[in-house]
Amino acid sequence: MNKTEQLLKQLKIDYPVVQGAMLGVSTPKMAAAVSNAGGLGSLAVGGLSPEKTRQLISETKRYTAKNFAVNLFAHEVPKEIDVLKFSKMQSFIHLFCTAHQIPFELRKAEELKFYSYEEQIDLLIEEKIPVVSFTFGMLSTTVIAALKKNNCLLIGTATSVQEAITLEQNGIDLITAQGIEAGGHRGSFLDPDQLPQIGSMSLIPLVTDAVNTPVLAAGGISDNKALKAAIVLGAAGVQVGSLFIPAEESLAAESYKDAVINSTDIDTVITRTFSGRWARGIKNAFMEAVGNSGLEIPEYVVQNSLTAAMRVYAQQNDHKDFLSMWAGQSASKAIRGKTEDIFLKLIREGW
Ligand SMILES: Cc1cc2nc3c(=O)[nH]c(=O)nc-3n(C[C@H](O)[C@H](O)[C@H](O)COP(=O)(O)O)c2cc1C
Repeated sequence: MNKTEQLLKQLKIDYPVVQGAMLGVSTPKMAAAVSNAGGLGSLAVGGLSPEKTRQLISETKRYTAKNFAVNLFAHEVPKEIDVLKFSKMQSFIHLFCTAHQIPFELRKAEELKFYSYEEQIDLLIEEKIPVVSFTFGMLSTTVIAALKKNNCLLIGTATSVQEAITLEQNGIDLITAQGIEAGGHRGSFLDPDQLPQIGSMSLIPLVTDAVNTPVLAAGGISDNKALKAAIVLGAAGVQVGSLFIPAEESLAAESYKDAVINSTDIDTVITRTFSGRWARGIKNAFMEAVGNSGLEIPEYVVQNSLTAAMRVYAQQNDHKDFLSMWAGQSASKAIRGKTEDIFLKLIREGW
């Protein structure tokens, strides 16, 4: 059995394609559509409350009886907030929002509430989730043991060879190797001061040479040629995000979908402006304003909380300049349509 055949067996899927979780964009209907079509759908629940997580899982189960992955953010929740940095940034965002007629409510740092992935584990076990994927860190050994005891397959995210080796050493079953092309947040977790910036063409063969764990290539998989190339480079399968942003089942605002479809190869940048963590998205006014402010950006999840109300308003009012339009370098290849059709187009010519 080759690597891809092993992956299909392991994940109980027909095609070696995982729909990447995309918090704020992917939906239960999207995950279910991919799983129903023979891939692995992923439900994004990173940083959500246990109640919301359970509700989204129930919803997904209503649309599919097939396996799907549930995706967590495995970072440490900040224990202390740098209040000065927080206040300066909050004042800046307040002024920015006021200037653009966006409602903004000032809050105290101690009012912020963050959920840890650890609060989601019991319910994942109760719901008998067969696959848990994660990014931004390493699950604790207690959590790994608890999930494994309940026959849960684990998929971790690596952006460098050393991160992949760390995942393997901790017994993670599958590794998503995320190249710098990928849309959304970098999954990097070993050295917060040095962001690995390795492209998929280099990362996939280096990682597959370094570990025995099967690898999913993520970043720049925008058509069937790229899917086949990833497998030639040593991956067992692929994880795809940006292609699904304009899908009918996506939560993305219309102007965001249009921006993705009309983007060019040079329209995305890596930024910390929206969340405090490095992420790739299409340039817009908010990124530019924070970039030009010269202010220090608070850490993730603090900055994410500071921009949350603005992002919700922008989503509801379809205002792309104030949204985090996460997208990868090949996002311009995305087209509108049903998730199922986008998925089938990707796999039609085999792999
Ligand atoms: C809008 C958006 C949101 C994302 N959110 C998550 C997430 O919640 N969890 C995660 O593990 N990866 C997330 N990612 C990364 C994707 O799952 C996937 O690995 C990546 O999009 C692959 O690269 P591509 O965009 O070039 O296809 C996100 C990506 C995008 C574009």
